[in-house]
This record gives sequence, C-alpha cells and structure tokens, in this order.
Amino acid sequence: MTFPPELLQRLSIAQRVTVLTGAGVSAESGVPTFRDAQTGLWAKFKPEELATPTAFRREPRLVWEWYAWRRELVAKAKPNPAHIALVEWEKRVPAFTLITQNVDDLHRRAGSRNVIELHGNITRTKCFDENVVVKSWPETAEIPPRCPRCGGFLRPDVVWFGEAMPEEETSRAFAASAQCDVFLSIGTSAIVHPAASLPFHALEHGATVIEINPDPTPLTDEANYVLTGAAGVILPELVRALA
Ligand code: OAD
Repeated sequence: MTFPPELLQRLSIAQRVTVLTGAGVSAESGVPTFRDAQTGLWAKFKPEELATPTAFRREPRLVWEWYAWRRELVAKAKPNPAHIALVEWEKRVPAFTLITQNVDDLHRRAGSRNVIELHGNITRTKCFDENVVVKSWPETAEIPPRCPRCGGFLRPDVVWFGEAMPEEETSRAFAASAQCDVFLSIGTSAIVHPAASLPFHALEHGATVIEINPDPTPLTDEANYVLTGAAGVILPELVRALA
C-alpha cells in the first residue's frame, strides 16, 4: 500500500499523536461491531433493551447474561495487527494518547500504555447502586450477583445509553485532541457524541486529521486524509512506512 508522501512526512515528524478507536479496530479480532449491517450487535439486538439503566432495572438477569456472553467472546478474542501497530507507534513518539470507545480491553491486552476508556471496560464490574467498582463477590447462583457491601445488583462497568461519560476520561480526551499534531479516527462510525466530536475538536485546534475506515462516515469529508480499508491491514503498513 502506498501513502501520500506529505502524509508520511507529517506523521514522521509528529511529536504528539492522538488516536480515537471504535469497534472497527476489534472487528478483525472477531468482536462484533455495533452498526455494521450484517454482523453489528445492533442489527441483532435492540440497544434500548440491553444497554440502558432502564433495561437493567426491568430485566437485570437478561442484561447481565448478555454482557456475560460479550465478556466471554472478548476473553477468547486476541489483539489483531491493528492493536499491535498502535502499541508499536506509541513506543516511537513522545506523546501518544489512545482514546477508545471500545470496552473490550484489547488495547490494554495488546500492550498500549496511555489508554483513555471513554465507555468503560467490560472486564470490570461495578455496583449498580453505589456506582463503585467491585473486584470480587461471593460465589452465587443468583444472576446478577449482588454487591458484597450494599446488596444491590452488580453490573458491567460500561457506559450505557442515557448515562454520563466518565468525567475525567472525557476531559483528558478533549485535552489530548486539542494538543496533538495529528489525530487519527480509526474504525468508528463517528456518530456517537461526545466521542464523535473529538476529531472536529482536533481540526479546530490545527491538527492534521486522518480517518481509517472501509466505509465513509460524517468525518470523511472533513478529514485531511482518508485511508479507505481495514485497520488491521492499513495500520501495520502505515507504521512500517514510518519506521
Ligand atoms: P460502530 O459499529 O458504530 O462503527 C464501526 C465502524 O468500524 C464502522 O464505521 C465500520 O465501517 C468500521 N469498520 C468495520 N470493520 C472495520 C475494520 N476492519 N477496520 C476499520 N474499520 C472498520 O462502532 P463504534 O463507532 O465504535 O457505545 O460505535 C460507537 C459507540 O456506539 C460504541 O462505543 C457503543 C455504540 O453504541 C456505547 O456502548 C455507549
């Protein structure tokens, strides 16, 4: 694959690189995306029936079991060349920030260090009532299990529709988008805010914005460069070309 020489030039001198990833970077690890017509989770399940606090209050067992299925699927998945390429790139620049909307923990498992998890992490569990992470609880046949402190239901530590984003992570993500030389939006449909406004925030602050996606998104017409294709193919070649 060849890249525009001025893009390689720009990337090779970039000292501050900020990346936003979405479900597309885990697609090649076999983890379903959300909005892909055939394979997307939202093509098979209704988000409002599974990924909202109301849904959990109405059907705690169903929601817990759906996330248990996703947790198992993610545990079996492996980081793919896209995740690995981002680990490589992080080692080569002084300021590399990886903002992810993914809850699959694959960036951390791949070895990425400076990861901002905007939507939480499916491998972490928290108390629904106290909103604090719970690391262990007594073995029980009850589903969902209960918080050992308050007896309330446990839930996955992920952001549901209608819930606020984690404040600290969100402000760090906006700061990293405002202060970077280059911003890459990779494998995201760029429609869920506030994450989707990060690349525009970077553009407003003078960053060069690159999109990597097989399909067009609302960002495509505004990005400085659009690399059309799979992240697992493009990213390793891009990082190799920068070496
Ligand atoms: P989506 O499923 O909305 O979008 C996935 C994007 O990845 C699409 O634009 C695909 O074209 C692209 N894609 C598919 N395969 C790819 C590949 N191999 N390489 C690169 N790109 C590929 O997933 P997200 O944009 O991550 O929020 O969705 C954002 C948020 O909406 C999620 O974090 C989740 C969802 O509701 C919450 O759960 C709060």
